[in-house]
Amino acid sequence: MDGNRVLLIVSGGIAAYKVLELIRRLRERGVAVRCILTRAGSEFVTPLSLSAITEDKVYGELFSLTDEAEMGHIQLSRDADLVVVAPASADILAKMAAGLADDLATTALLATDKPVMAAPAMNVRMWEHSATQANIATLAARGVTFVGPDEGDMACGEYGFGRMSEPAAILAAVEQHFAAAQGQLAGVRALVTSGPTHEPIDPVRFIGNRSSGRQGHAIAAALARLGAETVLVSGPTHQPDPNGVQVVSVQTAQDMLNACEDALPVDVAVCAAAVADWRVAAAADQKIKKKDGSTPPTLSFVENPDILKTLSNAGNKRPALVIGFAAETEKVVANATAKRRRKGCDWIVANDVSPGTGTFGGERNAVHVIDAEGAEDWPAMSKGSVADRLAQRIATALAKDAAE
Ligand code: C5P
Repeated sequence: MDGNRVLLIVSGGIAAYKVLELIRRLRERGVAVRCILTRAGSEFVTPLSLSAITEDKVYGELFSLTDEAEMGHIQLSRDADLVVVAPASADILAKMAAGLADDLATTALLATDKPVMAAPAMNVRMWEHSATQANIATLAARGVTFVGPDEGDMACGEYGFGRMSEPAAILAAVEQHFAAAQGQLAGVRALVTSGPTHEPIDPVRFIGNRSSGRQGHAIAAALARLGAETVLVSGPTHQPDPNGVQVVSVQTAQDMLNACEDALPVDVAVCAAAVADWRVAAAADQKIKKKDGSTPPTLSFVENPDILKTLSNAGNKRPALVIGFAAETEKVVANATAKRRRKGCDWIVANDVSPGTGTFGGERNAVHVIDAEGAEDWPAMSKGSVADRLAQRIATALAKDAAE
């Protein structure tokens, strides 16, 4: 489960104290846990104890201006791999079934595009009530999974079904969920390029670009989470190495190509790096000195290898699926469609990087995925969500390939 992220929604119920144990166990297994605490939940467990044990901020109010500025509620709901509602009160289950969104927890639940798991906790009569049972049936039909409730003595003195499952049982369900997700790319080898390249002018100067490496690193992390054996060949970035990914650090386009060729054979290659198109023809061995009265140096360039094109044409070592990126400032889909053909790759993920979109170095991305069938427009989402969705699309495509 190492490297997975859980958004834990804690609603009101005496069982809320049990989530501290659940969080501790998840964290021991390398899972990052972020909490949303409902107003009713905060009657049973304090934000301070959740924050201490998650080592993260705890989110509570929907209309907190600072929270919205730091992390919008939509992003909060999508940055996780799994949303867990524990304890899930009769009230929050009813709101989920009805699609209500009157606080941060229910808004996140309505906005999320991630799987949702709930651990109900309530009085036995409330659990057995046909309203609750109808809500459970509605949610289950929509794909929400349930852990428990268990049978036993209740805090209210009654006996029956309604006790929240023990942390160990919820943990086992979460583990099972991630194991199933991870199996999707088990046995698949993936190669991802990321970041800019630095092309030397002399030993101290270089030509580079503003690529942050965010998108490429997020894709490598997402593929690894689905179980792919992932090699990330990255130019210089400030991104941390993703969990469970083999990172090869390079400087120049030529180094990047060499590292990619060394990583072959792979099943899927995703070229997200912003590779410099040209390099200085003859980089100086020594620092070029500025002398009084001398004319500034003139640089001449030669073309760099095109890594995406090379991998797409790698003969019998060609990956089954080669995916490129296209940063376009106009006629995004038309230009990217032409680029797909020119490069010989299978898919192009095209994004609009015209000034003002904030894509380059930014958090969010609105992309179009172009393949032989046409263009698929994805709504604006975080780069992490683009990565997850792309990894999922890759898993589906490779599974289809294998079945044919
Ligand atoms: O031609 P253009 O740079 O727009 O193409 C972008 C796509 O090609 C990206 O996927 C990028 O990673 C890849 N590329 C490459 N090697 C180059 C130039 C671009 O792999 N030298």
